[in-house]
Amino acid sequence: MGREAASAFGRWFVLENFPVKVELVAVCDLQEKLLDWFRQIPTVKLLTKDHQELLRSPDVDVVYVAVPHNLHEKMYLDVLAAGKDLLAEKPFGIDLAAAEKIAGAVKSSGRFVRCSSEFPFLPGPQRVMQIAQSGKLGKVLEIRSGFWHASDLDPNKPVNWKRQVKTCGEIGVMGDLGMHAVHVPFRLGWKPARVYAQLQKIYTQRPDGKGGMAVCDTWDNAMLHTEVNIGGDEVPMRLEMKRLAPGETNTWYLEVLGTDGGARYSTKEPKTLWTFERQKEQIWQRVDLGHYGPFPTITGGIFEPGFPDCFLQMWAAYAAERAGALGNRFGCVTPEEAVLSHRVFAAALESQRTKAAVAVDAR
Ligand SMILES: NC(=O)c1ccc[n+]([C@@H]2O[C@H](COP(=O)([O-])OP(=O)(O)OC[C@H]3O[C@@H](n4cnc5c(N)ncnc54)[C@H](O)[C@@H]3O)[C@@H](O)[C@H]2O)c1
Repeated sequence: MGREAASAFGRWFVLENFPVKVELVAVCDLQEKLLDWFRQIPTVKLLTKDHQELLRSPDVDVVYVAVPHNLHEKMYLDVLAAGKDLLAEKPFGIDLAAAEKIAGAVKSSGRFVRCSSEFPFLPGPQRVMQIAQSGKLGKVLEIRSGFWHASDLDPNKPVNWKRQVKTCGEIGVMGDLGMHAVHVPFRLGWKPARVYAQLQKIYTQRPDGKGGMAVCDTWDNAMLHTEVNIGGDEVPMRLEMKRLAPGETNTWYLEVLGTDGGARYSTKEPKTLWTFERQKEQIWQRVDLGHYGPFPTITGGIFEPGFPDCFLQMWAAYAAERAGALGNRFGCVTPEEAVLSHRVFAAALESQRTKAAVAVDAR
């Protein structure tokens, strides 16, 4: 993900009339071959294997930390202690206790901190949010939000740190994919009061890449059946995070249905928005979306946006909000939202253990 961030900074100039300039000046990784890759970027002045050396650099204002989940807490706290601002990768610490500790340090440090979740910056999700807030849905019937991967269907895919509790966390796939599913619902005020979770461990071992097999002990698929309060009504909201979703390479989706209107978007059809209207007849309509993110770019309005585009838009939102220039545009995940996501995931683990619906601590 570090290289994805470099790619966003490398074409910062496509943002039109943007108030802040961003440059990649320093990189830290343990792998020599990755540091070598970053040598091609002319603005990079420091390459190091020691993150403390990077944090000592006076040239660095903001740090993006994209490392295995067991390292989040320590590195985020180190960034804040060094007096730098942070764009944290999800899941904002390996578990709820880590997230709360980080959020406490954010508060006491006064630094500007947000967490990563880029898909809502695509035009489709932005339109779903506008429709959800338009008052045209009538009574909300249900919400579905999810993120699906498929490559783990292959039992011969080698193990990596995301498949083991010690490095990925007990929440497993919820830590990997969950922030993507909750960012928009939370921002729209849809915060689960209760959760009933169905969690699955599907392949419990994988090739270790050295001729043997390694244990995989994280949850692979998670379906969280939750309830949210909308206008005094209890509304079902299903959150899905899956590593084994047949045929879905990287599918983020959001669907909101009401008695009078609705909207549906999936990156499966990246330029398509489906909207529902109940008139004399009931109509589902599809619209081809253009290239309209929250932050205008030089890219023509008819062209299709993709992953690098929403990643750039997310970074633009971070930089704009940090500079006090976000206005009424959609912003990155806040530390409070990141902690809430961990409360939902902790309730989901408890629900899996007790086979019962569990109240989410709404502090
Ligand atoms: N926003 C997204 O769409 C998205 C996508 C994938 C991953 N992620 C998140 O990004 C983070 C990293 O995931 P990834 O897929 O890039 O993993 P990765 O394994 O590809 O990369 C992690 C990098 O961290 C480096 N590293 C490990 N320990 C280090 C240390 N002590 N000091 C410096 N560098 C160290 C590794 O060498 C490696 O290059 C995770 O939090 C993950 O959940 C986000």
